[in-house]
Amino acid sequence: MVKVNLSVLALGVTLLLLAETWAQNPRKRLAPPKPNKAQCCDEVRSLKVQVANLTSLLEELSRKQDTELMNVLRQLMELDKQNRQQEARVTEAESKYSEINNRVEIMQLQTLQSATQTSSDAIYDCASLYSKNYRISGEYKLPKDDFLGTPELNVFCDMETNGGGWTLIQRRKIGLTSFNRDWKQYKSGFGSIRGDFWLGNDHIFRITRQPSMLRIEMEDWEGQTRYAEYGFFTVGNELNSYKLFLANYSGNAGDSLRYHNNTNFSTIDKDNDKCVDDCASRRKGGYWYNCCTDSNLNGVFYRYGEHTKSSDGITWYGWHGSNYSLKKVEMKVRPAGFQP
Ligand SMILES: *[C@@H]1O[C@H](CO)[C@@H](O)[C@H](O)[C@H]1NC(C)=O
Ligand SMILES: *[C@@H]1O[C@H](CO)[C@@H](O)[C@H](O)[C@H]1NC(C)=O
Ligand SMILES: *[C@@H]1O[C@H](CO)[C@@H](O)[C@H](O)[C@H]1NC(C)=O
Ligand SMILES: *[C@@H]1O[C@H](CO)[C@@H](O)[C@H](O)[C@H]1NC(C)=O
Ligand SMILES: *[C@@H]1O[C@H](CO)[C@@H](O)[C@H](O)[C@H]1NC(C)=O
Repeated sequence: MVKVNLSVLALGVTLLLLAETWAQNPRKRLAPPKPNKAQCCDEVRSLKVQVANLTSLLEELSRKQDTELMNVLRQLMELDKQNRQQEARVTEAESKYSEINNRVEIMQLQTLQSATQTSSDAIYDCASLYSKNYRISGEYKLPKDDFLGTPELNVFCDMETNGGGWTLIQRRKIGLTSFNRDWKQYKSGFGSIRGDFWLGNDHIFRITRQPSMLRIEMEDWEGQTRYAEYGFFTVGNELNSYKLFLANYSGNAGDSLRYHNNTNFSTIDKDNDKCVDDCASRRKGGYWYNCCTDSNLNGVFYRYGEHTKSSDGITWYGWHGSNYSLKKVEMKVRPAGFQP
């Protein structure tokens, strides 16, 4: 717009100069022919009109250009303002994020400090933290409780999904931690609470002594997610081989733990399955094997490209069948009567 007008303007200036030259030296130019006064003056008059026209045209153009320039300037300023606002928003978001991190640390401290409470409102899972208004997902340190006989324990709390209050008992997402471990390791837990881990069968037994539900969330390599929920979930103690008991499935992933209901836990060094095969060795992880699986969330983590080639992967038959190893899994529990 501005460019076009500028060239029009340049043209106008050229014409104006030309006209002025003409007007200033009419005699010189008109000298050779016999000066005819009337003709001369007519020409001058016409040139003067043209000059006047061009002048007004020029003025109009520059006025237009001014407003256009102003508009462009205004737009630039507006853009600059928006840019600043965006930057401010980013800064705000960043500070909020670090604030959240700080708050999580403060919360963990507070959780520790509240260790000297009566048993009635003791903190022993993420649901009790939630009911004390801790609402941010992350790592928490549950205090030791002499009354309940529970040790200090680092847990990861999901305070968002479906009402929150979930204590994670397992996660697969990075794939660097082997789940092909022995009985002792499955008993006390292994891995990193922010990455891949098994919370430990003793801890799972303890947390699910109160009536509990289980939620399993899965993601495949196409980025789709599914879940399976059991309205009732508990495991026996070590003397009972951490036997699985579950009921009341709901979800969209399929009921692929049902086949494992009422089976004992098996590891590479303890074959408690209902099969002549040694399922834990064949499937390379500890699990509640039947003969052997309809799901194996503790199987081998296979990366993209390798994820459909073996039957010992992280499987959930009800969704992707026996040979599809999932990209991400989380198992989490909370009290059955939990009210968000
Ligand atoms: C001057 O401009 C007017 C319209 O603004 C036009 O009618 C007229 O012909 C122009 N005169 C010359 C000499 O260009
Ligand atoms: C399963 O759900 C039904 C209906 O809600 C309930 O009556 C039953 O007690 C539940 N079973 C268990 C084991 O929680
Ligand atoms: C499960 O383990 C218990 C003891 O820990 C044992 O008595 C029971 O027979 C086992 N059940 C199966 C199906 O292996
Ligand atoms: C698991 O077995 C128990 C009986 O021991 C049964 O009541 C329950 O419904 C079963 N769970 C599922 C999901 O089939
Ligand atoms: C799964 O993979 C195994 C090899 O690990 C193969 O024998 C079997 O046929 C495959 N099953 C399906 C359904 O692709």
